[in-house]
Amino acid sequence: MLDSACLVAFIHGPGRMISPTPTRSIIVIIDACLWCVVQGCDGSVLLDSTPGNQAEKDAAPNSSLRGFEVIDAAKTRLEQACYGVVSCADVLAFAARDALALVGGSSYQVPAGRRDGNVSVAGETNGNLPPPTANVNQLNQIFGSKGLSQAQMVALSGAHTVGMAQCSSFSSRLYSYGTNGGKDPSMDPAYLATLSTQCPQSGASQPVAMDPVTPNTFDTNYYANVAANRGLLASDQALLADNSTAAQVLGYTTSPGTFQTDFASAMVAMGAIGVLTGNQGTIRTNCRVVG
Ligand code: HEM
Repeated sequence: MLDSACLVAFIHGPGRMISPTPTRSIIVIIDACLWCVVQGCDGSVLLDSTPGNQAEKDAAPNSSLRGFEVIDAAKTRLEQACYGVVSCADVLAFAARDALALVGGSSYQVPAGRRDGNVSVAGETNGNLPPPTANVNQLNQIFGSKGLSQAQMVALSGAHTVGMAQCSSFSSRLYSYGTNGGKDPSMDPAYLATLSTQCPQSGASQPVAMDPVTPNTFDTNYYANVAANRGLLASDQALLADNSTAAQVLGYTTSPGTFQTDFASAMVAMGAIGVLTGNQGTIRTNCRVVG
């Protein structure tokens, strides 16, 4: 039960803590929510590795995940106001909602009451985290196994309207795709040429914006890009190759309000995956440490 001081900290704490934070950290917090599909929404992605255990956050596909200091700061304030009441899993769910709102997403009600898990194993990302090369069948299999529909998967993919990707996440589309001279034929040739300059086959490269048009704004440009064969990841572009997902992609390009509503509702659904309640799990006081 939250007393009034606790309630105020709970409602305002995470939002106030993340507002002065650079956009980069904010966007990565949105990315962290995908980790609900790994171990469930039990805050396990926030646990640090220990000498005997490599945690989820240090798994190879997750090299760019950052922003944990924002969660730490929000959690510290909550603990000062109401010790041991609000879980790290709930702080992350609220922070993701607030991070989205800060980059232009619609706000939404986040059900609370999750408890924290104490198991975080890097190896559990295998087969649970969708690879950037996934086609629609594979995406449906992974999201479906967690109770999410194809329509929710398409809406959630719209998160790629913000943020960055390492060249290694898509360079196979530029240099080693099938037998077609190494180039993915489903990618717009002009976009492919630009990406090849940004990501030379040999040599240093910088992360690339997933939506080069409005990289820091949560809008429907992701879908416009995919519709124009300018999806960055193969898994993004795959949404245009399947008739039923393509219809949803094209629909969102002209219905930003529908996208925002669908995305918010899919985030709530994703936030309910594998939730611990009652006597399950714990309320960690330090989100990085088992407790
Ligand atoms: C549909 C299946 C998905 C796949 C295959 C996928 C894959 C990826 C990959 C490979 C990256 C780039 C990582 C890097 O190179 O550093 C990325 C970035 C990102 N993803 Fe996803 N993702 C998926 C769904 C989601 C979902 C559901 C969300 C959140 C609701 C999300 C949010 C993000 C964000 C915000 C970034 C940018 C992170 C940054 O700027 O560092 N993704 N994703």
